[in-house]
Amino acid sequence: MYAQMVDTGVKAVRAVAEMSPEEQAFQARIDADIKIEPKEWMPDAYRRTLVRQISQHAHSEIVGMLPEGNWITRAPTLKRKAILMAKVQDEGGHGLYLYSAAETLGVSRDQMVADLHAGRAKYSSIFNYPTLTWADIGAIGWLVDGAAIMNQIPLCRCSFGPYARAMVRICKEESFHQRQGYDIMLSLARGTGEQKAMAQDALNRWWWPSLMMFGPSDAESVHSAQSAAWKIKILSNDELRQRFVDQTVPQADYLGITMPDPDLKWNAERNHFDFGAIDWAEFQNVIKGNGPCNRDRLRTRVKAWEDGGWVRDAAMAHAEKQAARAAAKAAA
Ligand code: ACO
Repeated sequence: MYAQMVDTGVKAVRAVAEMSPEEQAFQARIDADIKIEPKEWMPDAYRRTLVRQISQHAHSEIVGMLPEGNWITRAPTLKRKAILMAKVQDEGGHGLYLYSAAETLGVSRDQMVADLHAGRAKYSSIFNYPTLTWADIGAIGWLVDGAAIMNQIPLCRCSFGPYARAMVRICKEESFHQRQGYDIMLSLARGTGEQKAMAQDALNRWWWPSLMMFGPSDAESVHSAQSAAWKIKILSNDELRQRFVDQTVPQADYLGITMPDPDLKWNAERNHFDFGAIDWAEFQNVIKGNGPCNRDRLRTRVKAWEDGGWVRDAAMAHAEKQAARAAAKAAA
């Protein structure tokens, strides 16, 4: 379903001596931690890399509304329902900030949405897994939003101004999302035996896909070296994944549930947890469009877009009418 890796024109990171004077000046600004703003000169590949990453990120927020939105009508209490509605709405807002940040690079929102709907643009692998029980809503907040924050806090310091600024607000909201998820897990873990088993089952199913969110290992990551040189990436995929494991294991211990990884153990020498091998074949299968819910997610997004066509048409007609009225008034 998906195209192969997006070609941003970067074959290898070049030494400063191999760069044009414009590129050298650009890299010097990055090295000095000066933010790059949309109207400033930038290498085409920097622009393409950002459009790729920011649009994928925006799509992830929008598609990410689906697995949780599925539980709004089935939330167990009014309070949980209100919280979940607010959270899903926040995710929609994150998508909008991110589409706006990408638009400053000269790509239109219509083009980005068309790429998503045609299967040309990726979104996070994690949103292709089903939400089978209420405990999955807890696990998504705790693990998926927890992993998202781990990745996104460094993005607040990335070199492209509009992306960095969008991330500040997104991270504040994600932190609330993470806590509400952990709160659901805590209630279940302190509940009946059946509820605790639901929490354990959700952890079993969401743990490994959450680790995959950080992307392939550094050795396999095609974009990492150049993105690090441009300070789009501040920490590598593997560094972030390790931080996430280190942070999350004690949280599972506190809940009294067990990580589904027999190889997980504290390594006093490394001062980190060692963990088992990730099933990269599963990851590749999901990002190629063959995960459990890929087709359903895209079908739902395309339908929502088509069903909303009349709203866009009405807004355009209203804007045209207003412009015509203003022109007629100016001419009178
Ligand atoms: N799901 C889907 N595709 C992925 C994932 C993933 N979890 N991880 C990596 N990939 C894709 C990359 O997009 C890239 O494909 P492309 O060339 O077609 O764009 C390919 O796998 C190779 O990976 P990398 O070279 O490591 O790619 P990159 O440098 O972009 O790093 C990462 C991937 C870490 C996800 C980066 O793009 C990033 O930080 N993005 C911003 C955060 C984000 O998008 N989060 C979304 C989930 S959070 C949320 O919505 C709640």
